[in-house]
Amino acid sequence: MKRIVIFASGSGSNAENIIEYFWRRPSLSIQFEVYTNNEKAGVVDRCRKLHIPCILIDKDQFNDKSFLEMIGNPDLIILAGFLWLVPSYFVNHFTDKIINIHPALLPLYGGKGMYGDKVHQSVLKNKDLQTGITIHFVNEKYDEGKILLQARCDVNENDDIESLSKKVHKLEHTYFPILIEQLIND
Ligand code: GAR
Repeated sequence: MKRIVIFASGSGSNAENIIEYFWRRPSLSIQFEVYTNNEKAGVVDRCRKLHIPCILIDKDQFNDKSFLEMIGNPDLIILAGFLWLVPSYFVNHFTDKIINIHPALLPLYGGKGMYGDKVHQSVLKNKDLQTGITIHFVNEKYDEGKILLQARCDVNENDDIESLSKKVHKLEHTYFPILIEQLIND
């Protein structure tokens, strides 16, 4: 059985979507574990509903090498709306095993402080005609590892933060599980 670890700080719609995608494919038997830095995050309730363990971590724990013992040796580590920078000991230990999803076409709108609605707000402010998603390997810098996949959507005159967020989440929910399936089958 393969094991996937998901880190999430927010609503957790990607985490839930990924878990349910694999549940619909029982031939791929995968054990999931979720880590969050935010006890009030929606992902906590989603995990409860799905009966998936959701483990609360603090920054000292995350930044200490002993955290590796807790994580063990998963087949893949997924950042699905996780807002902390991943420490270098962790990145070096799991080379090409950690992926992140970003709600924009990197290198546009990446970096510290660029997450969720802030990204969509910048896209609208700059009157971009397209936006999208990027899935990439994680390195020691925010949003800078090797890009694995990008998908695009149009930005219309009447789009606002909410409608853009919906379009981008739709792309995320479509493409993220498919790419994860490819990576764990490689
Ligand atoms: C997603 O749109 C993801 O791309 C974004 O947070 C959202 C989490 O949604 N990640 C970042 O902005 C990271 N820089 P979710 O909690 O519903 O999965």
